[in-house]
Amino acid sequence: MTTTLPHFEPFSPDALAHRGGALAEGPVALGSAGYTILNFELATTVLRDSRFQNAALKLMEDFGITDGPVHEFRAHSLLMAEGRRHLRLRTPLARFMGPATVENIRGILREIIQDLAAALDPSAPVDFHGGIDQRLPARVYCYLAGAPVEDAAKVARLSERTLSLLNRDPSLTPVIVAAYDELFAYLRDLVARKRAQGLGEDMLSFLIAQHDAGKLSEEELFNEAAAMLEASSVNTTHQTGLVVWTLLRDREVWQRLVEDPALIPAAMVEVLRLYPRPGVVSRIATEDVELNGTVIPAGSDVHVAVWSANRDPARFENPAEFVLERERNQPLTFSTGSHNCLGQGLAKVEMEEVVRYLVEHFPNTVVVEEGTDIGQAGGRWLVKSLTVDLKP
Ligand code: HEM
Repeated sequence: MTTTLPHFEPFSPDALAHRGGALAEGPVALGSAGYTILNFELATTVLRDSRFQNAALKLMEDFGITDGPVHEFRAHSLLMAEGRRHLRLRTPLARFMGPATVENIRGILREIIQDLAAALDPSAPVDFHGGIDQRLPARVYCYLAGAPVEDAAKVARLSERTLSLLNRDPSLTPVIVAAYDELFAYLRDLVARKRAQGLGEDMLSFLIAQHDAGKLSEEELFNEAAAMLEASSVNTTHQTGLVVWTLLRDREVWQRLVEDPALIPAAMVEVLRLYPRPGVVSRIATEDVELNGTVIPAGSDVHVAVWSANRDPARFENPAEFVLERERNQPLTFSTGSHNCLGQGLAKVEMEEVVRYLVEHFPNTVVVEEGTDIGQAGGRWLVKSLTVDLKP
């Protein structure tokens, strides 16, 4: 059954899809932006069904990016590929990004966090978002990709600007195109330098070696590298902030983490469920598809309301509560199906280590509420500022 809510708009700041309540009307809502899928079961179905294709290319076209290198990149990227081509592009990179790489990075991560934290002055309230959340993912990317550490600020800026497409603000089009142009030029230069210097153990060297072995074309090598760079930082930045903010404000849970840091991974997943950076993941129906008795016509916009699905009472008991012991806790924050997030192992370990750093070094840290601003815009949860009192 479809509920027709003519003004149902999953991207407005106060959208019901991010406040609860919408699901009570039914799992599928039709409104001004198209169809919105609100429950866990149908959200999972849509994300796993290749007849629903990623909306990123259409979003670019809607914003006037209809040809040129940026359009070409998106059209041929991992996100848009399906079937055998997607498998061929994704599988080797996914193996590279597997548990061995992620665990190897843990030690480096601890060093980077220590280094970033050394610049914070714990005798006064600390800008945790600017000092740690916004810097860490790009530093980690530079290590992973084999890029100079001096490039981290550029990487963070390029990730933020390219993915601002998802803000759904057409006035950003020139900024987005300029950021992609800069990103492509940066990667071309980095790859050329790596080829000249000789390959190492890093991700870009891995992709170049795949190309040299005839497994990737030159265009595919650059597309994969660009997909990893755009995704590298901005989502992890905001999700890290949401994790720290939520855990520090629940003092009972925080105390349990201080006493038993082995609980950190479970606590982090529970925050991913409650405050998913991607509150909405969008698709386009490539053919007529029947969903829960409703035929979704070919060409329709279909928005998976991750926030709402992650709080579906049919899937998660007491969905609004933070439950550390939750069983089968697999929220849709990293999506599901063949396009699930390829960097999720890395992102999780980054967030775990930030929490571990606080638990081990500053267990009495508290959030300074007046210096903190968290919300959602365009269906994406974000941290505008997060100030903390770092207390040992
Ligand atoms: C907390 C941080 C992150 C979140 C919440 C997140 C979320 C997501 C989501 C929801 C998707 C699916 C998009 C869709 O189906 O439309 C996705 C895909 C992807 N993510 Fe992430 N991501 C994060 C961090 C990362 C990182 C650190 C990397 C790489 C360094 C990365 C690389 C990718 C790639 C390459 C894809 C495309 C996979 C494919 O299409 O096969 N992500 N991510």
